[in-house]
Amino acid sequence: MALETVHMLEFPQHGDERGHLVVIEGKSDIPFPIRRVFYIYGSDAEVMRGQHANRRTEFVLINVSGRSKVTVRDGLGNAVTFALNRPHTGIYIPRMVWKEMCDFSADSVLLVLASEHYDSAEYIRSYDEFVKEVSRHA
Ligand code: TYD
Repeated sequence: MALETVHMLEFPQHGDERGHLVVIEGKSDIPFPIRRVFYIYGSDAEVMRGQHANRRTEFVLINVSGRSKVTVRDGLGNAVTFALNRPHTGIYIPRMVWKEMCDFSADSVLLVLASEHYDSAEYIRSYDEFVKEVSRHA
């Protein structure tokens, strides 16, 4: 089941009296080479973002500031919600998992690392279509 491979990651911290420094290296700290980075901020608490699955791209999401929640769905009726609230932790999301981000704090900056360049054609933005594709491969 795809949801079993969704998991939290903890990144190495190098803190001293000057503050914190967190290191994330592609292929070692996260399970893929990083091809794309984007970040989301200024989303209100009642906003829901994401609401899509990706046929090819794997992601790691990190709230480098503030908090949000991510719900992942497998399209077979299973869902898990994770809280993102520490800058040295992230969530790994494999391909073909439906994701929804919500409950953004006012200071939320959600950093996203992706395994592929942007290609709108590999996004599934209809939940019904996602369920159909998952059922076809089940
Ligand atoms: P969208 O996928 O709706 O964001 P979210 O997953 O947070 O709900 O993307 C918002 C817009 O940005 C949309 O027009 C597509 C564009 N976009 C890119 O051009 N490149 C990217 O890498 C991403 C993630 C989005």
